[in-house]
Amino acid sequence: MRSHDELVEAARKHVWLHFAHYEDVEKRPKIFVRGEGMYLWDDEGNKYLDTFASLLTTICGHHRPEIHEAVQKQMEQLEFFPNYHDCYTIPSIELAEKLAEIMPGDLSVAFFVGGGSEANESAMKMARQYFWEQGQRSRTGILAKRFSYSGATMGAMSATGIPWFWETFQPRIAGYGFFNPEWYYHRELGLDEGEAGKVALKELTELVEFEGPESIAALTMDPVSGSNTGYWVPSEEYMQGVRSLCDKHGILLIFDEVQVGFAKTGKWFCCEHWEVVPDIMTIGKGFSGGYLPLAAAVSTQKVAEVFRKPDSEFRHGFTFGGHTTACAAALANIEIIERESLVERTAEMGAYLREKLDELYKYPIVGHVRGIGLLLAVELLDDRDTWKKLEPEGQIGSWVRDRCYELGMILRNNEDILVFAPSLTITKDEVDLMVGLTEQAIAEACEKFGRA
Ligand SMILES: Cc1ncc(COP(=O)(O)O)c(C=O)c1O
Repeated sequence: MRSHDELVEAARKHVWLHFAHYEDVEKRPKIFVRGEGMYLWDDEGNKYLDTFASLLTTICGHHRPEIHEAVQKQMEQLEFFPNYHDCYTIPSIELAEKLAEIMPGDLSVAFFVGGGSEANESAMKMARQYFWEQGQRSRTGILAKRFSYSGATMGAMSATGIPWFWETFQPRIAGYGFFNPEWYYHRELGLDEGEAGKVALKELTELVEFEGPESIAALTMDPVSGSNTGYWVPSEEYMQGVRSLCDKHGILLIFDEVQVGFAKTGKWFCCEHWEVVPDIMTIGKGFSGGYLPLAAAVSTQKVAEVFRKPDSEFRHGFTFGGHTTACAAALANIEIIERESLVERTAEMGAYLREKLDELYKYPIVGHVRGIGLLLAVELLDDRDTWKKLEPEGQIGSWVRDRCYELGMILRNNEDILVFAPSLTITKDEVDLMVGLTEQAIAEACEKFGRA
């Protein structure tokens, strides 16, 4: 057996990590070797509570025998045939049917892909070709939300409202415009929440009119903002207003539920909280429980119908899009969610976690607790009344994250935003442990940085 140091040396030299900050890799990289429920073990035998569910994927926990069995059975039968040309496989048919049953409205035609970026890329290409097929060939524009992440491929990157993700890869693809999210008007411009929604919608309406609705193919957004901004929850009025605006102008509405969908908010899909159904929804991450890579862009029959004419073909696809065995894993994952009533359980445990996190307000640097279901964030601030950020930004947040690692807990931070998105199977005892360790790290940080 190779020593930890030998493995780290080989890893540093030969493995190119994704979104890896060199300084962190140099500090103390971890090598994970085993998972069980909410826990992971590294190669040196250290145990960690996984509060971010392997990057928001292992929603039913690590090491579920039901999924292993489904994967093994499918591997023995037929490991893979692509969703290609005129060929289907049984798991992909059954999974698409199951999605049609659990997804809201008429979202019922699944284009399977390998990851969230591919799903968003596919949804946007679907929208452009949808209008191209109908002779509206200058209807190519895409509106996307500032501060939201859409993915790493060129198209998804171009729809990402955070310049850090694209400034080194310029030029972005042409035809993308950006609007501010509702929370921006509350937090950055100081409007109260009701007013923020009205102004956000007014500005979005003006942007659509300014650009010319007949030039816009799609508006894409994550209904609840992702971990980068810490799960801001929009108002029903705003969400319904966005839907009406798109309907008025025939713009396709795409919801990116790659991160926030699939039971994590206490409904099967996030948009159900406001009874607003998009024309295309993208899903990924927790879709196969993290067992195998799988995502999808799911459209309504109305959108798909345009591609069903005899001389039409969606000119897009991937070799491994909707891998046969990944579809079998996703079906087993959905079965667990249904059998264990994890959607309802998430609403309950989310409320409990929220209650516990709210208790952290006793620390002066705990500025804002927000989120929905089991997607919650604690933002550390210098002054919670004025939203003044800590300086230097991210120093305390990263210290808290590193301290949590030392205490045996994986915690994700984005600068001073601490993010909690555990498996939906989390127990009350595990919530208590998670919040207890977070509190210990925050208390120590207050001491260390003179914020007590
Ligand atoms: C909201 C959102 N969309 C898209 C993506 C891209 O998904 P993937 O990393 O699977 O390509 C992510 C990933 O974090 C995401 O959070």
